[in-house]
Amino acid sequence: MLYNFDEIVDRSNTYSSKWDSNVQKELFGRDDLLPYWVADMEFKTAPEIIEVLKKRVEHGIFGYSNRTDEYYDSIINWTRRRFNYSIDKQWILFSPGVVPAVNYVIQAFSNEGEGVIINEPVYYPFKRSIEANNRVVVNSPLILKDNMYHIDFDDLEIKLKDPSNKILILCSPHNPVSRVWTEEELIRLGDLCIENNVLVLADEIHNDLILRGNKHTMFASLGKKYEDISITATAPSKTFNLAGLYSSNIIVPNEVIRKRLEEILLRNSIGGQGPLSIEGVIAAYDHGEKWLDELLLYLNENVDFIEGFLEKNLPRAKLIDVQGTYLAWIDLREYEKDGVTLEKVIIDKAGCALDGGTWFGESGSGFLRFNFAAPREFIKVGLERIANAINEEFK
Ligand SMILES: Cc1ncc(COP(=O)(O)O)c(C=O)c1O
Repeated sequence: MLYNFDEIVDRSNTYSSKWDSNVQKELFGRDDLLPYWVADMEFKTAPEIIEVLKKRVEHGIFGYSNRTDEYYDSIINWTRRRFNYSIDKQWILFSPGVVPAVNYVIQAFSNEGEGVIINEPVYYPFKRSIEANNRVVVNSPLILKDNMYHIDFDDLEIKLKDPSNKILILCSPHNPVSRVWTEEELIRLGDLCIENNVLVLADEIHNDLILRGNKHTMFASLGKKYEDISITATAPSKTFNLAGLYSSNIIVPNEVIRKRLEEILLRNSIGGQGPLSIEGVIAAYDHGEKWLDELLLYLNENVDFIEGFLEKNLPRAKLIDVQGTYLAWIDLREYEKDGVTLEKVIIDKAGCALDGGTWFGESGSGFLRFNFAAPREFIKVGLERIANAINEEFK
């Protein structure tokens, strides 16, 4: 191993949302929790990226900045190398984050009162964004079978056929259930969306984080007809722990769709990007690959560790098949079905901050989302606290 993922990094006094005691107090009612919630990592980013940023900081001038061909080429080359998908420079729009992009897409391609389809349990800001824009949340729940989640295509088809539903937000890989959708599933979903004239917003922010031999297919890479109904969001933020640099890539191959989205971005003056953000994106995609490959090995080992730990210490817990992301979705319903009760024990007794299953929709009750992008020692401490609390509380 070239890189040290075991290093414990002190994040206090760095304005980290995950560690900030005021944020914890407001959300969890306590300010002293060990955090396994917000989806960023406890690892330093690649030293190759840090080097580039250091150099840029030493330059000392942080004026208005511009994206150049070098920036776009880094995204294009990465997408080709990692996903065998060729994209054009003009397809790539900038957004300061994927969640802002979700909002812009909702505003551009639906009207108030119209529906946006999601698949719960799912990343909760989707629902918030739909509601904040006065659109209707249309949930087509995933089905849990054989320890992994599946799309309920019969239900999805009914919802896609309703002409008031305009957009489907595809979470791929799916947070929090860690599913990497297969090519067959994506084709089936895509064909149904084409048939019913529904736009696919493919949130692929986790697409570099593929584990245990799974293979990620970018939705738009399936062919032109899928490109023509889709907008894809990717980013170096999750992959390289650069979320605080606020940069994401919004890939829009279809010209008509792109022009419409560009109008909304223009109306909101979205486009400016800081120099550290630009440098970080290029450095990550051009020089971060070796680091990422080692990170994935370490994350795979973390999954093995969690699996072994749960088998031994919480035998009635089920770790839902981990395929992608660095988020484990743990089924604790055999200990406690009521999500509110379960989540309270994790806060009060375990002293840990996790994303409660209920945050992701009703079907998340009795589940917890555990962020395992951290040194193994930190994972171990958290799991021990959680196991002790649950074993004590739910005999
Ligand atoms: C599926 C998904 N989309 C988007 C985001 C956040 O994106 P951003 O920070 O770029 O707004 C996250 C972060 O956890 C996520 O899991």
